[in-house]
Amino acid sequence: MEHAGAEAWVPSTRSVAKLAEAAESCRGCELWADATQVVFSRGRASARIALVGEQPGDQEDRAGEPFVGPAGRVLADALEAAKLDPSQVYLTNAVKHFRHTVRGKRRIHEKPAAGHVTACHPWLEAELSVVRPHVVVCLGATAGRSVLGRAVRIGAERGTVLEPATPGGPQVVVTTHPSALLRLRDRSEWGEAFDGLVGDLRVAAAAAD
Ligand code: URA
Ligand code: SF4
Repeated sequence: MEHAGAEAWVPSTRSVAKLAEAAESCRGCELWADATQVVFSRGRASARIALVGEQPGDQEDRAGEPFVGPAGRVLADALEAAKLDPSQVYLTNAVKHFRHTVRGKRRIHEKPAAGHVTACHPWLEAELSVVRPHVVVCLGATAGRSVLGRAVRIGAERGTVLEPATPGGPQVVVTTHPSALLRLRDRSEWGEAFDGLVGDLRVAAAAAD
């Protein structure tokens, strides 16, 4: 489906708080209609590192804050292991409303389509131009697509410092999405995946200094 895109709702401002407030009324695609509220960002507006996820999940949709659910706990643990202070980073998502389908009493996460990522991109662009981080960490392929403007293969490109998407823009590091770890039942597989995520965050931390 074609979407109008968020452009018309994005104010010209140097304030993340003003962007977040304006996003409450965004109708740039249809995802607002079934969501509880917009989930914008949290963290430090002067951060050297910005982390970009996919979209809010069920708990984020209810709380209005990104990364407060199970994936957020994995991310918080990984940040700690990488010696990154969570209060010193900026956390946001490629898509700001929760895409899901309802099955009985459950709301099942549905991946945002490329059209949703494109529609929501003006918000990400606006907030990154306010925050101006040194490094953007893309958590998963959806974030990678939004930030780099192309298809990204996490397995092949993770953990190295990629060239900025735009000249003079922030360096980019792609890594796995923390929610991928939630699906791993095997202890050693989990440990390996966690260490991989932490290693990639360390690469980003080093590049941001
Ligand atoms: N997954 C994401 O990508 N973002 C969140 O905010 C929560 C879970
Ligand atoms: Fe606007 Fe993004 Fe929400 Fe779509 S997902 S309505 S573009 S804020």
